[in-house]
Amino acid sequence: MSDSSRGEFSSSFGFIMAAAGSAIGLGNIWGFPTQTAQNGGAAFVLLYLILAFVVGYPILLAEFTIGRHAQSNPVGTYQKIKGGKRFVPVGFLGITTVGFILSFYSIIAGTMVAYFINPILKLMGLHQASAWVISQGASSNILFASIFFFFTILIVAAGVKNGIEKWSTRLMPTLLVILVVLVVYVLTLDGAMEGLKVYLLPDFTKVMHTQLFTSALGQAFFSLSLGVGSMLVLASYTSKKENIVRLGWLVTLSDVSIAFLAGLLIIPAMYAAAASGTQIFDETGSLISGPNLVFQVLPALFDTMGPIGIGLSIIFFFLMIIAALTSTISMLEVPVAYAVDNRGMSREKASIIIGVVFWAVSMIIALNFDLLFNFVVSATTQFIQPLLGLFICIFVGWVMNRNTLIEEIKQGNPEVANSLFMKIWPFFIRYISPILIFIILAQAFL
Ligand code: TRP
Repeated sequence: MSDSSRGEFSSSFGFIMAAAGSAIGLGNIWGFPTQTAQNGGAAFVLLYLILAFVVGYPILLAEFTIGRHAQSNPVGTYQKIKGGKRFVPVGFLGITTVGFILSFYSIIAGTMVAYFINPILKLMGLHQASAWVISQGASSNILFASIFFFFTILIVAAGVKNGIEKWSTRLMPTLLVILVVLVVYVLTLDGAMEGLKVYLLPDFTKVMHTQLFTSALGQAFFSLSLGVGSMLVLASYTSKKENIVRLGWLVTLSDVSIAFLAGLLIIPAMYAAAASGTQIFDETGSLISGPNLVFQVLPALFDTMGPIGIGLSIIFFFLMIIAALTSTISMLEVPVAYAVDNRGMSREKASIIIGVVFWAVSMIIALNFDLLFNFVVSATTQFIQPLLGLFICIFVGWVMNRNTLIEEIKQGNPEVANSLFMKIWPFFIRYISPILIFIILAQAFL
């Protein structure tokens, strides 16, 4: 199959928006603040930042490099690059894992749709319906997750330029503007400053807690969409003229900045909500965290603000929907790229068939929520993603031909050979990143 039929981004801006769009999602705006609250505030923030740069960025660049080199999906990439044959199962594991991630992710994304509609229904006087949409029962979960799947399939079926690129370049800048406006507003509220302290001043007694490392590493992997091939596939659509080292930096920086901004919104918002009477501590005196943090605290905060609150609530959840959608498209894109590249299927057909398969998985999770949800989340994000990352380090650092690797990175960046990057990155990808992943995975099992 010729490369032109795969699709390509029309500009570097398009690629950055798509890759940043993949990275920036519920993981940043919902997962990161939740985890921060759960793991003692600033200590977690610090560890996450370190791991994102020390482990995340090197692997992101490894994915960019092999994806653009092979111009293929994870399976095709390992098949095409010399020495990769034995890694083909790693490619398949990635394709399947990202499907499961899509399945649980769409349920949370669906809840965002529900909270977006809720105030609108209230304004229309439909009180029963407005209560039902946010009930988070099986039936409302099913409805909203299905809506999310529908839009994801629609965009992926439309292709790289007219789907992913077009929507990412429109949606991502909107997201940034909305987020900044909300942060500025929340920081003016009573009580917000106390939240700011918890967020920014580390409590080092919490840093030694072992679960913290697993959580922070999982968060770094999840947030940068690593291991499963989202980044690899997006890079496969980018041109050889692009400087992927620079683009990788931009993506990492924008990802951690948005997570950081989201924390700046949510944590102070929790304390502002407390100042106006909302319960934000549980019986043990720790901050409410868990998946419902965003769903309990924020609506409570918005409620205290009268008519402005209704507007802000609609805007905030719209923001979440945008962030989630640019991420889900980069998830569905991975198995779809495999079906198109390796099986010769048309993009439309592949998007629908694969979309429906994982929609069915999502429905099974929604129907057995208490049993499956947390299990699927931690199995895929805290264990399989880092494991896949470890294999990428082994492949790129130890198996793949060094010259091929350097030649690929040099495309669009001829001076890279003598740069600081080339002195540091190979060392990280061979030693630092895999050893850190190994230690953190091992301690999680012991
Ligand atoms: N990184 C996204 C977020 O933070 C989610 C995401 C997109 C993802 N593609 C992925 C997570 C692949 C894991 C694997 O919300």
